[in-house]
Amino acid sequence: MDNITYAYLETTNYCNLDCSFCNRTDVIGELQHMPLYKWETLLDGIKHHPIEEAKLMGMGEPMLHPHFDHICRMFKETFPKSKLIVATNCQYNIKEGLEFRKKFQECMKYIDVLYFSIDGWDESYERDRAPAKWNKLIKFLKDFETINRYDCDVVVNYVVNAYNVDDIEKVDKLRQENNLGMLRLNIAQIWDENTKMSDDLATSGYSREQLDYLKDTWGDNIMGRSKWDFEDCFWVKNGLYTTVEGDVKMCCMNTGAKPFGNLFENSIDEIRMVDSYQEVKKGCGDNKPTSHCKNCSYKELVPILEYLGV
Ligand SMILES: C[S@@+](CC[C@H](N)C(=O)[O-])C[C@H]1O[C@@H](n2cnc3c(N)ncnc32)[C@H](O)[C@@H]1O
Ligand code: SF4
Ligand code: SF4
Repeated sequence: MDNITYAYLETTNYCNLDCSFCNRTDVIGELQHMPLYKWETLLDGIKHHPIEEAKLMGMGEPMLHPHFDHICRMFKETFPKSKLIVATNCQYNIKEGLEFRKKFQECMKYIDVLYFSIDGWDESYERDRAPAKWNKLIKFLKDFETINRYDCDVVVNYVVNAYNVDDIEKVDKLRQENNLGMLRLNIAQIWDENTKMSDDLATSGYSREQLDYLKDTWGDNIMGRSKWDFEDCFWVKNGLYTTVEGDVKMCCMNTGAKPFGNLFENSIDEIRMVDSYQEVKKGCGDNKPTSHCKNCSYKELVPILEYLGV
């Protein structure tokens, strides 16, 4: 069995938003923050794998975990060489004196790359990230000026859909004014095995003009790979996706999948050997995807990424 080198670990499924492109409400169970003793057990159970990069996010807003600073510290103590990435929606208050600010500030010591999720400008931002408020984001960015970033690279992650293409330039200016790192453009995906991108206007309804604009102006900022097929899927070989319950899923392209096992009941190595896991893995390896992968957004994005020259 291959080693796990990339992990996507969810430590809370609480969120303050209900974004139009996120399938969180369809897939989460009971709301919970992972207790620190369980986090310790989880890390202990995977620490024999040489994890090079980890994303502490999932179907929730990581910073809402009351002990997210300890979550980050414990991760780095277990995997000191691993690159730690976190995404945050910035919809909270970090003004001087607040406990929340202290926690946020402490997290910066451990996070290597922090994504500020900003999609759209003003009205389109409030529409797609409801009930987020544009003013709250601007206030957050203002207060962030006085936060010590340590060595953390703070970048902007922008989920592109057919209705917010025209706002990219303005958000890029906002990024520069706030001395943030690169603008990462992610063409919106659909993280649900039962929905095709072609059935959804926001993810498939780009005009030729919009695509040409994206290609000519933002080609270098667009993330992803157009040369991709199921046999290239790294999740089945080297990835790990876990939910706040400790459930193991295959990837973030199918967050609604039935879990293959639970890390608090079985070891990760046992879970990766179960038939259902091996079937998905073999399906990808043979380029004959199982039903788990039938609407994989990586595959569905290939034609558009090809057009965009990515
Ligand atoms: C699921 S969120 C969790 C972290 C946090 N709540 C946030 O929004 O930043 C992680 C990242 O995935 C992005 N994301 C959510 N739904 C997406 C989709 N359908 N396609 C592409 N990226 C998506 C978010 O914008 C965010 O940058
Ligand atoms: S994208 Fe992030 S902020 Fe938006 S609903 Fe999903 S988890 Fe919450
Ligand atoms: S849906 Fe299948 S092919 Fe797509 S990322 Fe997940 S495991 Fe890989």
